[in-house]
This record gives sequence, C-alpha cells and structure tokens, in this order.
Amino acid sequence: MEKPEMDVPTPVGFFDPALTEVRRRVFYQWARTIFILCVFIFGVLSLFWGSQYRTEANYPALKVLVVDFDGTVDPYRTDNPIVGPAVTNATKNIIHSSGLHLGYEIKSPADFNHDPWAVRQAIYDEKAYAAVIINPNATALLRAAVTERNSTYDPTGAIESVIISARDENTYYTYIMPDLAIFQSTILMEFGPRWVRELTSNSTSTSGSASILNANLNFSQVPPQAINPAIGFTTVDLRPFTPAVAAPAVTIGLIYLIIIAFFNFPFLMGIHAQFMKPTTSPSSSDSSSPTTATLKVPHWIIWRILSAITAYFFLSLFYSLVSLAFQIPFSNKPAPDTLPANNPNAYGQGSFVVFWMLNWVGMAALGFPCENMAMVLGFPWSSLFLIFWVITNVATGFYALDLAPGFYAWGYAWPLHRIVEALRTILFDTHSRIGLDFAVLFIWVAVSLAFYPVATFIMRWRMKRGYA
Ligand SMILES: *[C@@H]1O[C@H](CO)[C@@H](O)[C@H](O)[C@H]1NC(C)=O
Ligand SMILES: *[C@@H]1O[C@H](CO)[C@@H](O)[C@H](O)[C@H]1NC(C)=O
Ligand SMILES: *[C@@H]1O[C@H](CO)[C@@H](O)[C@H](O)[C@H]1NC(C)=O
Repeated sequence: MEKPEMDVPTPVGFFDPALTEVRRRVFYQWARTIFILCVFIFGVLSLFWGSQYRTEANYPALKVLVVDFDGTVDPYRTDNPIVGPAVTNATKNIIHSSGLHLGYEIKSPADFNHDPWAVRQAIYDEKAYAAVIINPNATALLRAAVTERNSTYDPTGAIESVIISARDENTYYTYIMPDLAIFQSTILMEFGPRWVRELTSNSTSTSGSASILNANLNFSQVPPQAINPAIGFTTVDLRPFTPAVAAPAVTIGLIYLIIIAFFNFPFLMGIHAQFMKPTTSPSSSDSSSPTTATLKVPHWIIWRILSAITAYFFLSLFYSLVSLAFQIPFSNKPAPDTLPANNPNAYGQGSFVVFWMLNWVGMAALGFPCENMAMVLGFPWSSLFLIFWVITNVATGFYALDLAPGFYAWGYAWPLHRIVEALRTILFDTHSRIGLDFAVLFIWVAVSLAFYPVATFIMRWRMKRGYA
C-alpha cells in the first residue's frame, strides 16, 4: 500500500463535504471582518460628519464686532450722527432676528480707547473673526460733502469691514463673507430712507442749514455719490489668502504628510527586521564553532527611532521643497499687524527653514503614533488606525473648531490643528502661537517615544505567537 500523496490536494467543488469545516470557518471570519469594518465605518466616520453637524447652531461663535466711532472723535465730533445709528440699528435687528446670522456684537468705542486701529489689532489678535467699524468721519464728511459740495467725497470711506482671511480661508469664504455681504445690504436698506428723510426735511440740523433738497440750494451741484449711495464699505483683509497654491500647503497636502509618515513603517520594517534575524558571522569561519548573533532589543529600538527621525528629516525636506518649487512666497518681510499685506512671512528670509522644521517635527508627531499603532495592531489593522488618524486630524485641523460641537475640544491638542496654525503664521504672518504649537507637537513626539518600547514588546510578542 502506498501512502496517499498529502502534498497535492485534489481540487473539489465549493459544496464538497470535504470543505465543510473550511467553509464554515471562512464564512465566520469573513462575516466577522465585515462586521468590524462596518462598525469602524460608522464609528470613525461619525467623527468627521459630527464635526460639521452643529455648524448652523454655532454660527454665533463666529464673532463680528460692530464698533460705532461715528462722530465720537475730534475733529468730527457731532451730536446727531446718522451713519452710526443706522448701522447699530440694523445690527440690533439682525441680532434679534431668528434667521441664521453670525455672532454680531455691538461694542463701545471706549472698549478700544476710541481708536479704530485698536479694532483692527483685535481682529489680528483673533479676538473675533471680523469687525465692522463706522469711521469717526462718516457722518461729518457725508454732510460736508452735501453742504460744501465736496466732489471728491468717497462713500466707501464711511464704513470699514475688517477680516483676516488667511487665518482660515475656508470659514471666511464659506460663512463670514457671504454673511457680511447680507449685513451690508441690510445697512444700506436701513440708511437709505433715513438719509432721504434728512435731505428732504429740516427736522435735523444739517450744519444749521435748511433742507438740502429745498429750492434754495442748487441740487445739481451736490456731488451725486453723496446722495446715492452716500455711504459704502471698504473691506480690509489684513492677510489675504494668496496665492491659491498655498492651499495644499496648509490643507489637503498635509494629509499626504500623515500618509508618508505612516509609510515609513511598512517600507522600512523589513529592512530593520534583518537585525533581529540570527546572523552567522563570516569572520568566525576559521574558529571552531560559528557564532550567531542578533541585535540587542534596546539597541534595535534606539536604531529604529534615530533612523525614523532621520528619515522624517529628509522626507519633510522634500515635502517642503514642493511648496518652494511652486513658488509659495517664503522670503517676504513680516508686516505691521494692522496693515493689509500679501504673504508677509513671519521669519523673513528664514521662513523656509522654519517651515521645514515645522514639517519635520509635525511629521514626527504624526508618524510616531502611526509606528506605535502599526507595531501594536499589525497589518492590515494598522491601516484602520491610519484612517482614524487622518479623519480626526482633518476634522480638527481644516475646519474651524469654533463651529464644531464642544466635544471636539480635544482638537486643540491634535497635531494637525497645531501644524496648520503654525503654518499660517509662517506663510501669512498671522497671529503667532508658534511656541505653543511646537510644544504640543514635541509632547506628541515625547509621549509616542515613551510608548515605543512597549509597542515593540507587543509586536515581538505577537510575532512569537505567530500573528502577522
Ligand atoms: C472730501 O472728501 C474726501 C474723501 O472722502 C475727504 O478726504 C476730504 O477731507 C473731504 N474734503 C472736505 C473739505 O471735506
Ligand atoms: C475717514 O477716515 C478714514 C481714515 O481714518 C479714511 O480711510 C476714510 O476714507 C475717511 N472717510 C471718508 C468718507 O472719506
Ligand atoms: C423747512 O424749511 C423751509 C425753507 O427753508 C421752510 O419754509 C419750512 O417752513 C420748513 N419746514 C419745517 C417743518 O420746519
């Protein structure tokens, strides 16, 4: 009797009884895996959807200061301003309306020392998202334009809207600027009738003169822009978000920074693993017994950490060079806080180096948690961590946390939120919290490194147990 050849199995049909056991196991494992993925999708994607869920309800968190300086500052002091009250009245109507609107707040000029520039500074300092400033000269110059026929009168000098779009261009373009446009037309609707009433009646004292449109003044000599639109708006964008190619550097491009940091593990793990395979030393060939050796685990850990940091150094350099190659400005001088400026760089000529260092530290802060989780979870489950990591970082880094539900407060400590904030300081010279940003990133690196030996231990334990 010959023994049956065990090495060459016979292929059989799907429902063959010989496969009953295997079929059951495959069904079970397939179902279990799909179930886990379904739960994962629902749980982790909810973190992303959830971050936008309360946007409408949180609209008022986008604060807009309305400050009426009209007629309060010499030499434009007047008792009966008309522009300022029209604006504050329109603001009150909006605040008390039930419709969707930003968080308008009427502030007294005394809060800003009667200095319109202090309001701009407050916007630069991110005390609010925008400000509407009624200039001290608004009513005075308008009335003077009519009575003194100032043909160079410029209506847009009356009211100033201050924004800083490079702080968060997405929120500004999507929510704030459209709402400010509605606010402006509301103001004009409020002001128009008031102004016509003043022009046609004598009840208000227009520098003591009689009604302007009454026959005793020659209407044709009044500069038309002082009749209509009479007032207008100047929008001051302290740090416009330009050029468009800067968008990848502060938003979507950073997702690739996470992914590249994640790839470090699958690409290099096989290479590092060679240290842990028993090696026969060739030099011992002449001796009696060949010695085999593997690297000590602590040395292996140190080697892997140092080589990862070095890898991030070069990877982040080339990641940063893409932004340089596409001519995002990196060598402009910083600009004064309250003056509009295109692409001032917080660190002048040194901005690119700071940019690179930020990407380096950022990559380490994003990458070491990935390394740890790759060691703990193994493949392919670690890719689920990548999805989790991308989603939580994107949800808190690219969208205004002010609009997210309060639950997302942890986002302020998440690495990408800090990277984006520091990048905007470097690229647009926005309000700087860069010390805190770097500190948070270093904490992520430090905590991850503290966990690194534990993760290595878990990985070696898993491998000995024969898991992937
Ligand atoms: C005329 O209007 C311009 C622009 O609004 C203003 O700068 C100037 O001071 C006004 N001149 C007089 C005499 O009011
Ligand atoms: C009022 O003064 C501001 C500067 O303080 C100026 O920019 C603006 O044009 C002036 N308003 C008018 C109507 O000229
Ligand atoms: C308005 O002014 C005109 C002429 O300046 C005068 O005849 C008229 O009585 C005034 N009306 C009121 C209500 O004061």
